[in-house]
Amino acid sequence: MRVTLHLYKEVEYLVLANNQPPATLTDPKTALESRKVEDSRVTMTEFVLPNDTNTLGNMMGGRLMHLMDICAAMTAQRHTRRVCVTASVDNVVFRSPIRLGEIVILESYVNRVFNTSLEIEVRVQAENPMTGERRQANTAYFTFVAVDEQYHKTAAPPIEVETKEHQRRYEAALHRRDLRLIFAGRKRLDDASHLRDYLLSTIEQ
Ligand SMILES: CC(C)(COP(=O)(O)OP(=O)(O)OC[C@H]1O[C@@H](n2cnc3c(N)ncnc32)[C@H](O)[C@@H]1OP(=O)(O)O)[C@@H](O)C(=O)NCCC(=O)NCCS
Repeated sequence: MRVTLHLYKEVEYLVLANNQPPATLTDPKTALESRKVEDSRVTMTEFVLPNDTNTLGNMMGGRLMHLMDICAAMTAQRHTRRVCVTASVDNVVFRSPIRLGEIVILESYVNRVFNTSLEIEVRVQAENPMTGERRQANTAYFTFVAVDEQYHKTAAPPIEVETKEHQRRYEAALHRRDLRLIFAGRKRLDDASHLRDYLLSTIEQ
C-alpha cells in the first residue's frame, strides 16, 4: 500500500506506507541541472578473496564485471540523481589477471550524456599490497539509461566538461555510441554521419 504526499505545490511525491521515500525520489527543480564530471566520479577499492577467484587463483571476469557495473551505476545515479539501468557494456578488455590477495581499484566517470542515456567509463587497476605497485588491469564503457519514478526512461542532466581530457573523452564517446547502436541493430551506418566523418578523417590523414 502507498499514500501520496504533497511536498511541493506542483509535484506529488509517492511515499511508501512505512514512510520511507522510494529510492527514485528526485527533486524535479534540480533534475536537469548540469553537473561536472568530478561531481559523479566514483572510486571503489576491493580486496580479492578466495571466493572471488577461479582455480588458477585469478579474479573471475564475471566477479570483476559485477563490481564494474556497481561502480558505473553509482556514477550514473550520482550524475542523474535518478535510478539508472544498464543498457549495454562494450569494449571490455581484460589486460592483466588480478591475483588472490591483491587490491582492486575501480574508477568511473561520465564521458558524455546523450538524451536519456549516458556513457560511463570504468577503469580498473590492480595493486600488489606488498610492493604498492599498480597496473592497469581492465577498462570498459557502460551505457546507462535514466528512469523516472514510474520506471520510464527520462532525460538525463547535461555534463560539464572542464579539461582537455574530459573534452577528448566527450568527443570519442559520440563515435562509440554510433558504433554500439549500429552493432545493436538500432542505427544504420548511413545515419551515423559523425562516425563516418571521423573514420574518413582518419583515413585521409
Ligand atoms: C535500456 C532500455 C531502457 C532501452 O529502452 P528502449 O525502449 O529500447 O529505449 P530507446 O530505444 O528509446 O532508447 C533509450 C536510450 O537507450 C539507448 N540505448 C538503447 N539500446 C542501447 C544499446 N544497446 N546500447 C547503447 N544505448 C542503447 C538509446 O540510444 C537511447 O539513448 P538516448 O535517449 O540517449 O538517445 C530498455 O531496453 C531496458 O529497460 N532494458 C533492460 C535494462 C536492464 O534490465 N538492465 C540490467 C539491470 S539494471
